[in-house]
This record gives sequence, C-alpha cells and structure tokens, in this order.
Amino acid sequence: MVTTLVVTFMVLLAFSFPSAGVPAPHAQTNITGVWVIKFPLRYGLARKLYFDLKQKGDVITGRMMFGPGRGIPISNGSLEDGKLHFVVTFGRPPRTRQASWDGIVKDGKLYLTPPPFPGRPSSTLVAERTSAKALLPPPRLPLPPLRDLPYNGLAKTPPMGWNSWNHYGPRVTEKTVREMAKAMVTSGMKAAGYSYVNVDDTWAGPRNAKGEITANGKFPNMKALGDYIHSLGLKFGIYTSPGPTTCAGYTGSYGHVQQDADTFAKWGVNFLKYDWCSAGEIYNSSNVDQMRAVYQEMGEALEKTGRPVVFSLCQYGWDHVWSWGAKVDGNLWRTTGDISDNWKSMIRNGLAQIPIAKYAGPGHWNDPDMLEIGNGGMTNEEYRVQFSLWSMLAAPLIAGNDLRTMSAATKAILTNREVIAIDQDPAGKPVNRISPPHSTQLILTRPLADGSHAVGLFNLADHPQSITVNWRAAGATGKKLRARDLWKHRYIRVSEPSYTAIVPAHGVVLLRVW
Ligand code: GLA
Repeated sequence: MVTTLVVTFMVLLAFSFPSAGVPAPHAQTNITGVWVIKFPLRYGLARKLYFDLKQKGDVITGRMMFGPGRGIPISNGSLEDGKLHFVVTFGRPPRTRQASWDGIVKDGKLYLTPPPFPGRPSSTLVAERTSAKALLPPPRLPLPPLRDLPYNGLAKTPPMGWNSWNHYGPRVTEKTVREMAKAMVTSGMKAAGYSYVNVDDTWAGPRNAKGEITANGKFPNMKALGDYIHSLGLKFGIYTSPGPTTCAGYTGSYGHVQQDADTFAKWGVNFLKYDWCSAGEIYNSSNVDQMRAVYQEMGEALEKTGRPVVFSLCQYGWDHVWSWGAKVDGNLWRTTGDISDNWKSMIRNGLAQIPIAKYAGPGHWNDPDMLEIGNGGMTNEEYRVQFSLWSMLAAPLIAGNDLRTMSAATKAILTNREVIAIDQDPAGKPVNRISPPHSTQLILTRPLADGSHAVGLFNLADHPQSITVNWRAAGATGKKLRARDLWKHRYIRVSEPSYTAIVPAHGVVLLRVW
C-alpha cells in the first residue's frame, strides 16, 4: 500500500500541468479547512488531492487525502510569515516514507511545492479552499446477505499469465498489451502453460450516459483487444475496484457492480482482479462481514453473466481472506501487500504463505503477488528463488516483465517446465516447512500427485551454505530414491538418509524425488 500511495502520487505529478510562478506570501491568514488541488489527467479524467488542515497559532496539523478516508498524516507543520512547511508520512511503522512540502499562502490560495521526484522538475501546485463535504464518503450501498457461492469450476491449477502492473504501472496501453500477447506466443511462454494476458490499473475512463464504464484513450477498443488475445489462443484479464476509484484513481465499480460485470463479459473478459482500494472509504476494511459481502457481490455478478471468469481478490490479505475467499467464489486471493522488485520484498511475501498453505488447493489459491522475474532489481539466482518458491507454494505464476525483450536467462527461468510442473501439480497439496522457522536455511517439501515429492533447499543468507535435507523428514521414503535437479535438468545421485547441497547465497536447489 505504501508503494501504491507513492506511485499514485507520482502518477498525479507526472500528469499535472506545470503552474505559474510562486507569488510573494501575504500576511498571516488562518488556513484551517479543506483545500483541493485539481489535477487534469490525460484521457479526459481529473484527479483531486485534498489537504484537511488545522492551524493553532503557527502550528499546522492535518491530513493529505486522495478522497474521503483516513488520509496520510501531516506532521512538523508550521506557518510562519505566510510560509508553510509540513511533512507527510506514507505507510505505518516500521515501513514509512516521508516527504516534505513547502509553500506560501497568498490571495486565499496555497501555492505548494511538493518534494522532488527523480526525473521530474519540481513545480508549484495551487490548492484552493473547498467544502468539507468533499471529504464525506459516498453512501454505503446495500450488500448481499452472506452465503457460500457455488464453485465456478475454474483455476483447478494456479493461473499462469502476464499482468501489466509490475513493469508498466500507469504507462500501460492497448498497443503494449497486444505486443505482450503476441510475445507470449512467440517466446514459448504460451507453450509452457501461460495463458492470461491481464490489464491492470489505469485502463478505465468515465462512464457514458447509460452509466456503462468506458476505457480511456490508452485503450481505444477493449472488445477488439479481447478478440485479438483470444485469436492467439490466450485469455483476457481486466482490473477494477469495488470503490468509486481504483488505487491509481481511475473509475471503479462502486454502484455499478452488475453493470460492469456485464460490460466485461461483453468485452470477452476471462479474468477479473478486484482491488479493494477506495472501497475502504465506504466500508470498514476490518469488518470481515462487510469485506466478504463486497467481494461476494462481484462474485454473484460474475456468476450472473454466465461467463466463466477467474475471480482474483486483491485486498492485501486483510481479514484472513484465505478463510473465506473460496466462499465468494475467489479463485485466488492476495495474501500480502504489493511486491517490489527486490529480494527483501519478494522473500517477505513468499514466506508469509507458509503458515496459511493449507488454505490453498484446486480452484482457490493463495496469491503472494506477481512475479518480478526479468524486471532487473534482483539477480538471476534470486529470480530462480522466486520462481522455485512460488512453485513450491502453488502460487499463481503471473509474469510482470517485458516479454518482448526478455533475456535468454529470464526466458529460461519463466519457461522451466520442470519447475512449472511443481506449481501446476494437479493434486495442489500444501507445502510443508521442515526447517526451523527463522533459519536462513529454508527447506520446503510438497507431496505431488504421482507420489513423488518436490523438495526446495533455499539459502536465505548472503553467503553460500551447505544445506542438508533428511529424506524421511521430507516425506521421501523407500529403498531406492531417484532425484532430479530441476534447474540443472539432470538426475542426481542420492541415497538414504540425507542429501547435502552447497547452495549459493540467495539461491536454491530444487529437487523432485521419487
Ligand atoms: C494495488 C494492487 C497492485 C496494483 C495496484 C494498481 O496496489 O495491490 O497489485 O493492482 O493497486 O493501482
């Protein structure tokens, strides 16, 4: 979420128009009240950033907000001689990021200079007073009474595909998605089992006169895009939020749930990622019944379209989603915050799945977020760890890199069929950790449908380690053991009672043992 807020903010700045120079400050005025900066976005959309400020003498406190909701706290605020200064803090301890704002008060307006962002010259933004009503949340709409929806019969093995967010973020266009779909075929990804081509946030435009959602100018024709993806033998995925706006501030499905499900069905959608985002302004994010009912509403709406649509719940693992996700017909549910392209983030998301592994199984999967393989922030060894770990966890394999230009090494990781076979094992049994919880030597095992076991020896330390697995503890018993190294693609010599491998720093040895 911290990343999303920061990204959202960068999107705003990237699309904002530069404003006039900063006038000289006026004598002190009291700035208590609600202020708004209106950002004209491209594609006929507008976005607002609010400041709800309180002034006591020279001290300024308050919140910065993208709309109704809790907002981002303002601290160290001061207004002296018309000069304003404050700090906004994104996220919660220990993962917080701070940004300093400066400004002046003149002619009843705030001329604010946001913190510099890399590659973007700082410009002055003008905030005007607005009514406090602007920060009142839209009304809660009636939600369906809770019930268990029948399984939609989809995602018997974890979904495999590509999603635009990790690499393109708000820069995704229809052209990119088409090129990615084509590359999914020509690169051999399709042959290796990948099929979903998923457009994430920032495709949506305003609603038309009938209230139907439209795509913005980056996506000239959604139906044609769906047709193209289908013509390649692939499947089309889309993204929306139950709130009025998506996490990046584009139109969400609030008040139009069935209508949007119908529109998606018309466009030929096969996969929907439903991202909580601004629904938190309306419903109580820590009230599991409300959260579940919001997701159930879309689950029912998809069911009513009569179209098979994989339903991907995205609410960052709040309210123990793994315990009720399948009841709203979720085929996969995010269990953590957003992944970033670095070792710490990837490992944190991956390890968080182990205690909840038993909640995953055919038709409904824990989702530790998408793959970062090939995006450049980690070494190939570390990317092999992500692919191995996700496969041991039976996590969805949703690539997030540029499939057109990926290196041979990236392709070799993403299309390693022996590792994919672990992920896609039809039994979908949960993973077991047989190493102590906080050890830097992580040993995972998973029983597979053919009676064999997948065994992963992960080295989480930043120096090489020799890791020993006891076969019996790994569940592999029998007089004659046969083992295959799934990254070296060769059988290795093993015998009772154990096997020891030298595993490189931030590396993995992944075995299948019969
Ligand atoms: C949230 C989700 C991400 C992505 C962004 C898009 O942060 O968790 O996966 O969809 O929104 O704004």
